[in-house]
Amino acid sequence: MSESTGSDQARKAVKDISDKNIDDMVRTFSFTPDVMNAIREHINLEYKSWYAFKKLASDCARSDIALHGFSLLFARSAAECFADAAFLEKYLIQRGGVSIPGEIPAPTVCWPDDPIDPIRPLHDALYIEKMILEDAQRLCDVASTNKEYALEDVVEDRFLKKETKHVKDMGDLLREAARISKVPGHGLYHLDKDLRATMGKIPWGIHNKPESCDLLLKEMAACGLGEPTVT
Ligand SMILES: [Fe+2]
Repeated sequence: MSESTGSDQARKAVKDISDKNIDDMVRTFSFTPDVMNAIREHINLEYKSWYAFKKLASDCARSDIALHGFSLLFARSAAECFADAAFLEKYLIQRGGVSIPGEIPAPTVCWPDDPIDPIRPLHDALYIEKMILEDAQRLCDVASTNKEYALEDVVEDRFLKKETKHVKDMGDLLREAARISKVPGHGLYHLDKDLRATMGKIPWGIHNKPESCDLLLKEMAACGLGEPTVT
């Protein structure tokens, strides 16, 4: 091969690649437009949820409400939504997709200050968590239909287990709030104090993990409970 033919071929290869869209080359056959749209929709839902939780966090921090434990809880939920949206956006790009941001309307949720009623906003918060879980399941469904196993694995690993627990935690919090609201008094103060002590984490959250059964059994085994007593 002459020197000039070799460099001609090299120039042609450079031109061929320069004319190509490398994202197309990165994308696998299973990463279809339907899959990409489903990811974008979930990103948008996470941002909408972030905005709603952020609003609730701000409301609870107002002097007129001063429920800083609840504010921390909602700030934590907002941060998780934001992180999940950023994660999925990065994943979309990693797979050869393009980010197309959707509209994020102003949230309609609020923590009412007269009366200081936790039921409505917590009901809204439970609804938001459930929407996120259902949409993550829908995303998994779209991935499965398109044989997009890599995405399915990511959604199952990062979203489904975590969101299932968030729904249960928020459901419990709604029940607690309804219980203490039957009699006006110190109930809300104490519930907020518990949330403040854990920096906004659900204080009983560990009991909502299926793995807590294993921990309980391990603890029982360590203490010797459940073993027959020899007399
Ligand atoms: Fe969540």
